[in-house]
Amino acid sequence: MNIKKSSKQVIKRAAKIIQAGGLVSFPTETVYGLGANALDPLAVAGIFEVKNRPFFDPLIIHVASMDMFEKKTGHVPEKAYQLIEKFWPGPLTLVVEKSELVPDIVTAGLSTVAVRMPAHPVALDLIKECDLPIAAPSANPFGYISPTTAFHVEKQLKERVDLIIDGGPCKVGVESTIVRIDRENAYLLRPGGVSSEMIESVIGKLNFVDEVKELPDAPGLLKSHYAPRARVVIITEGGKINENTENCGLIAFKRNNRKQKFKHIIILSKKGDLCRAAAVLFSALHTMDGRQVKRIFIEEVPEIGLGKAIMNRLRKASAEKNN
Ligand code: TXA
Ligand code: MG
Repeated sequence: MNIKKSSKQVIKRAAKIIQAGGLVSFPTETVYGLGANALDPLAVAGIFEVKNRPFFDPLIIHVASMDMFEKKTGHVPEKAYQLIEKFWPGPLTLVVEKSELVPDIVTAGLSTVAVRMPAHPVALDLIKECDLPIAAPSANPFGYISPTTAFHVEKQLKERVDLIIDGGPCKVGVESTIVRIDRENAYLLRPGGVSSEMIESVIGKLNFVDEVKELPDAPGLLKSHYAPRARVVIITEGGKINENTENCGLIAFKRNNRKQKFKHIIILSKKGDLCRAAAVLFSALHTMDGRQVKRIFIEEVPEIGLGKAIMNRLRKASAEKNN
């Protein structure tokens, strides 16, 4: 096992691995990342190999200071600074013009780069200790559920990672919100840890990607993603299920009095709190997969605040795997 509990010493060792071109899985407040030196194309190639991730899927660069951010980006519009002021460090990724320092493999050849400053102290310490920006996707095989504990990473990627830093379960539990900002407009590319309502309260109206056909295909936008092995079926809260539920699992949004029989039941938040539901959603999917249920029925949640990110992930987890 190459999981190590986070400590000063472990972070020092992890930083050496990153500097030498290796791969380290580290906790962020959203999900665990699989990190490499963002400025080393060979190290970044290792991420794609381990994840089995297609090269057309660009990565997020994680920074620990504004200086690091400004060195990796070109022109940064005022709206981006307004969002940074309000939400960094935190679960918001900004897509802006890239600087020449960023290798093409990181951005899949795009002229833009995705950057975020994570709010997890272990992530920030690691970036500072190696004094390098860290390119990191979620630490799971491509298309599978993102990890929210070190154990999920170990289960999925095993010895293919040089070191896994255990910083406990992720507090937010769904990935960062991705917003692209160009000279005129802001586009929501992926709903996530910061709600679109909160973003709009700072910079005004967001454009939603469906309306922006010319954008490059960001794979978080693929129809099937974040998927467990068992088939996922979305159902209405408390609504009737007409299928046979033998050997199936139920993930309920909150406590309710559903009468049907299930092999396993997980309640995301007894009181129906969306933040709490987001934080445990991926864990619940991992657990169901571990219990080898035939199908996973999941209840819808209200599409407000974090509920949008939750429903976005659920729809992708339930889509036919055709990519
Ligand atoms: O919370 C998170 O964002 C986590 C943690 C580890 O930071 N990371 C994460 O990375 O979710 P990943 O690789 O699983 O998702 C990154 C998404 C992809 O869907 C990718 O297409 C999009 O970001 N992306 C990256 N660069 C982009 C760019 N220049 N333009 C548009 N989309 C981009
Ligand atoms: Mg991912």
